[in-house]
Amino acid sequence: MTDFKRTLITSALPYANGPVHIGHLAGVYVPADIYARYLRLKGEEVLFIGGSDEHGVPITLKARNAGITPQDVVDKYHAMIKDSFQRLGISFDVYSRTSAPIHYETASQFFRNLYDGGKFVEKTTAQYFDEETGQFLADRYIVGTCPKCGFEKAYGDQCESCGTSLSPTELITPRSMLSGNTPVLKETKHWYLPLDQYEPWLREWILEGHKEWKSNVYGQCKSWIDSGLQPRAVTRDLDWGVPVPLDEAQGKVLYVWFDAPIGYISATRELTPEWEKWWKERDTRMLHFIGKDNIVFHCIIFPAMLKAEGSYNLPDNVPANEFLNLEGDKISTSRNWAVWLHEYLEEFPGKEDVLKYVLTANAPETKDNDFTWKDFQTRNNSELVAILGNFVNRALVLTEKYFEATVPAAGAFTENDRQTLETLSVLKGEIEKSLNSFRFREALKNGMDMARLGNKYLADEEPWKVIKTDQERVKTILYVSLQVTANLTIALEPFLPFSMEKLRGFLNTGRLGWDQLGLTDLLPAGHRLNPSSLLFEKIEDKEIERQVEKLLATKKANEAATAGVTPAKDSINIDQFGMMDIRTGTVLEAEKVAKTQKLLKLKIDTGIDVRTVVSGIAEHYTPEEMVGKQVCILVNLEPRPLKGIESKGMILCAQDPSGKLVLVSPETVVKNGAEVK
Ligand code: MF3
Ligand code: ZN
Repeated sequence: MTDFKRTLITSALPYANGPVHIGHLAGVYVPADIYARYLRLKGEEVLFIGGSDEHGVPITLKARNAGITPQDVVDKYHAMIKDSFQRLGISFDVYSRTSAPIHYETASQFFRNLYDGGKFVEKTTAQYFDEETGQFLADRYIVGTCPKCGFEKAYGDQCESCGTSLSPTELITPRSMLSGNTPVLKETKHWYLPLDQYEPWLREWILEGHKEWKSNVYGQCKSWIDSGLQPRAVTRDLDWGVPVPLDEAQGKVLYVWFDAPIGYISATRELTPEWEKWWKERDTRMLHFIGKDNIVFHCIIFPAMLKAEGSYNLPDNVPANEFLNLEGDKISTSRNWAVWLHEYLEEFPGKEDVLKYVLTANAPETKDNDFTWKDFQTRNNSELVAILGNFVNRALVLTEKYFEATVPAAGAFTENDRQTLETLSVLKGEIEKSLNSFRFREALKNGMDMARLGNKYLADEEPWKVIKTDQERVKTILYVSLQVTANLTIALEPFLPFSMEKLRGFLNTGRLGWDQLGLTDLLPAGHRLNPSSLLFEKIEDKEIERQVEKLLATKKANEAATAGVTPAKDSINIDQFGMMDIRTGTVLEAEKVAKTQKLLKLKIDTGIDVRTVVSGIAEHYTPEEMVGKQVCILVNLEPRPLKGIESKGMILCAQDPSGKLVLVSPETVVKNGAEVK
């Protein structure tokens, strides 16, 4: 590792178009928070930057659909996101937003610097335009068929089915998201960052210079660079965003992926007048915590922007995570398939650390992972409660019981005592090694190993038995156990900050530093403990069932919504089906039933006979259209009178999405009277 004096940690700015869910947390905010807390505990100079990403088409579309302004949308979600992060204990030094004036100023200035330095290329190209709404259709304002995979709802910037990034003109059969119309092409001028010119430099800087980056990150960079970089437009014809600071660019704004990462800079400026120290001094190290869908923006595009500007540092590392799924399905805001942080905080009060623990223990660091409520319960009950809580509780309760809640003086150490205490610094080394290479789940496991060590020690020494014969020995055993406990408050502080604060309360000690981890005399003999309670509580089956049911309800609602389909009826057997006599028949004559809107009187040749059927299709078919059509008809339906006409049977129809009835007919003409089965 190179020498540095301070670390700037950024975490991807979440879009303020919805609340934060467990996928965001596992991918970005929980690991970033652990790392920030770890460095602070080591006494390092660190800044942890966050904020809301408040531009981009999804926000304007959402506003449009809700009949409110984009500012209303981002005000609502920014407040909600900020509050829920705070309650979870994500320890941002600043949580800013990209609609803040300081951001407009910073982003405009950044653009100006590149513009004045001649770093952009200007191009006038034909882009899709919606004539009905008078708007250019950038990014997600346009949908069409993906040229790669054929998915019919690919966006103008990306196909969410195959992940390919696209430009609107690549879409097959493009449609406007605003009007549904087929757009026309119209010329417009934009400014491009010529990424192609940065290719040799990127190759050198990443592919040669950063072989230590996580393999998922390095791999994505390599494949982008190898497939050839294209100039990227950094402006858009939209009315929501940072205005392009050029007289000739009226009505144009900066592309959201141009302004958003500059948000990290704006947030630092908002926090401290010394912001340049964090961005420009070479002994500052910058880390971007992001999810895998952000890799290209943070490893290629933003660095190219910084490089073009010239005065900024580049990221030292970009520890991107893969995705977290939920109960086997991709998390989706639009399908409400998520565990929402604000809901979790309401439904599991006091269990903030449990969520962080589970998301870290099961973090999608090297591959996509699955969150299940069952696993959540198991990790709480068999790890936090049964390993960590159990050890700590025994050490505290036994000390209360035998020694009036006072740390006893140790006698001579046995081999097991010594080994146990020595293991503390071994574990410290392992936790550090894991954290330094952004392996958070491994680091957490190393930390929990310290609690396992304590449990094993107590199980070996059995102070509850020894107390009957040798009180002096029990003093030593509990002395050792309490030192392990005190060490835990340091080792697990980055992961479980609320719980370790509580534990420090029980131990009657203040926050200890990372350099004290591994010490074996953190609590001196004679030190008084405070009354204690359980550190973690069991989560009962019924709480988990409630959550699972909630997800099932979502799934049902989604299925009904996407399909517009009536739920399945109870099953019948083949004999019951066979009771229905359905035949093919041809319409010989048709006329409207007088004084009705809906009814047609049909004369049908069923092959068996020629009969009259009255059918409610007059609003969908004219009599002329019906004559000569072959249809399917239920011939053994009890005859019933309709408007004084006896109807003998029913013809089969289906309803299309608009509510129109369409005839269900044999695919090719068959003999009348053929059985349909
Ligand atoms: N809003 C983006 C997302 O959720 C992330 C923006 S990160 C930033 O994918 F660097 F651009 F701010
Ligand atoms: Zn595709």
